[in-house]
Amino acid sequence: MGFVVAIDGPAASGKGTLARRLAEAYGFAHLDTGLLYRAVARILIDKNRPLEDEQAAEAAAAALNLAYVEESRLRGAEMGRAASIVSAYPAVRRALVDFQRRFAEQEPGAVLDGRDIGTVICPDAQVKLFVTASTEERARRRHRELALRGEDIGYEAVLEDLRARDARDSGRATAPLKQAEGAHVLDTSALDIEEALAHARRIVDAARTGA
Ligand code: CDP
Repeated sequence: MGFVVAIDGPAASGKGTLARRLAEAYGFAHLDTGLLYRAVARILIDKNRPLEDEQAAEAAAAALNLAYVEESRLRGAEMGRAASIVSAYPAVRRALVDFQRRFAEQEPGAVLDGRDIGTVICPDAQVKLFVTASTEERARRRHRELALRGEDIGYEAVLEDLRARDARDSGRATAPLKQAEGAHVLDTSALDIEEALAHARRIVDAARTGA
């Protein structure tokens, strides 16, 4: 079992970039678990199935092939919204647990980011981070990110979408978004990525040396 860094937090909090940079810094593997739920939603849409079709979503999750998890088709705003619908189905979440846990076992270590990594998937992770930022700052970041992809839906629409998604992710019965026990909270509202990374590295370094 390698060293595990579990990162959770709401949409556009900066957890994805932080997870990637941390993994690079330590030579760990990185899994953006949101992509798994986005891929499940994508499969339903490609098959013309409604997102409300829980059985089809479960079947898609059970058969999920990593080859399908191709980022460019999954990153848009619509997929984020769709992912937050299928991710609320307990059977979908169950079907993805083993894959995520196996991923986390890699040597020398792994960084997983999502909503329930520290609470459900890797409750024994050596480091747990809860990355957050104000809703307005997150909306600004997501708006910029989408505009760069050529998907400018307007700041207000992004803000509204984030609020709806936060409510759905935090309010669902199965594996809701919440701070794990023992998690370090990292509020990135006023931090750029290098500052957030430096902060997270201090936490990881301390855990690695048993400080
Ligand atoms: O950064 P953003 O939230 O837009 O995207 P994401 O991390 O790819 O997550 C998309 C959706 O997948 C979230 O709104 C959650 O509903 C769901 N998700 C989840 O339930 N559990 C995870 N471990 C990761 C994502």
